[in-house]
Amino acid sequence: MAPSKLSVSVWRGQESGRFQSFEVPRLESQTVLDAVTYIQRVLDPTLSYRFACRVGMCGSCAMTVNGRARWTCRTHVSRVAADGRLEIAPLANLPVVKDLVTDMTVFFEKWARARGSFQGGATRREDFARVEPASRERQVADAGIECIGCAVCYSSCDVVAWNPDYLGPAALNRAWTLVNDARDTGNRERLAAVAGDAGCHACHTHMSCTERCPKQISPTAAIAGLKRAAALAAIKGEF
Ligand code: SF4
Ligand code: SF4
Ligand code: FES
Repeated sequence: MAPSKLSVSVWRGQESGRFQSFEVPRLESQTVLDAVTYIQRVLDPTLSYRFACRVGMCGSCAMTVNGRARWTCRTHVSRVAADGRLEIAPLANLPVVKDLVTDMTVFFEKWARARGSFQGGATRREDFARVEPASRERQVADAGIECIGCAVCYSSCDVVAWNPDYLGPAALNRAWTLVNDARDTGNRERLAAVAGDAGCHACHTHMSCTERCPKQISPTAAIAGLKRAAALAAIKGEF
């Protein structure tokens, strides 16, 4: 039988800080986010954390739960704390604003560095470009398009930890999605942007990003695609 109380250690402070322990009533179908919310609403209103949708759509509730980055709203306590113990920390590889809240600025700056925004070639006077759902073009672009920028992969990547300049799996997955977008016209600059020392060639294919992505996206496969495309562009003298 599951214990009637959870013992929850929560990170307090910023880069330096400490874990604080709380007792939280154990409930049926309880998520990790439910436990954090109970602490903030009932035990300590000064606890800072972030969430929005509670249904796995926004990605803002990602935290480190018992050592592993996860969406807390989609993680049932029963899956991760059979013994009734939880340790909850902010996402790794990002600066801590306070308690469980990280600063995502660098994460999204890397999307910009990887040319992660769509570069269209059409004008507003032209009709919508159509890419048929069943076409190969659409299917390759679809592989990584559902990324919601939660940073679970980024927080799980050893190379980001060793080299804070590394663009990381999410920005590179976004770049590869646009490389495969038949309507995009920015690939030469994009491939040049991701081919540097802090780009796709730094990935050591360890796959933590792919194992942990809650959307079942494979940034590892996207990065492998970028490595091939960047090498081909370099051989052709495009940058
Ligand atoms: S690739 Fe997956 S884990 Fe990484 S930011 Fe996108 S949705 Fe989150
Ligand atoms: S496969 Fe590459 S991007 Fe993904 S976690 Fe490993 S090193 Fe990081
Ligand atoms: S609160 Fe939106 S994904 Fe968890």
